[in-house]
Amino acid sequence: MDIQALCREALMMRGRSYAPYSGFRVGAALLTRDGRIFTGCNIEVGSFSSTCCAERVAFFKAVSEGASEFEAIAIAGGAGAMPDDYCSPCGVCREVMSEFCNEDFLIVIARTEDDYQEFTLGELLPQRFVLQ
Ligand code: THU
Repeated sequence: MDIQALCREALMMRGRSYAPYSGFRVGAALLTRDGRIFTGCNIEVGSFSSTCCAERVAFFKAVSEGASEFEAIAIAGGAGAMPDDYCSPCGVCREVMSEFCNEDFLIVIARTEDDYQEFTLGELLPQRFVLQ
């Protein structure tokens, strides 16, 4: 898996972010097990609860296109020209990841393509809820 390339896609997608209210721009790149990449950016709405995070945009694009098995996601977010900190996925996005991914799903939070942290979904969402 080329983590740096995935981070580059996430960083590039920040340029597509529509964040006129927060100014916090996020990009995401989601890698499927068969090597495809689906991307997303955050899209804000004046009625704030309608806003969608970059990660969920990427997941919903992928699932709606028929993808169902996922390997990793790279996330890059921040208010500056480049992310000045690591943007950890929000709780809602972690639940969406949990719906479609195993506990070994890799979550990469990047400041640059060379400066990133790696976690598994199991680490970021321990004791997750599963509807039996
Ligand atoms: N946001 C994301 O896109 N992903 C995250 O993981 C955290 C937050 C977006 C939502 C909103 O547009 C802005 O960042 C500030 O919360």
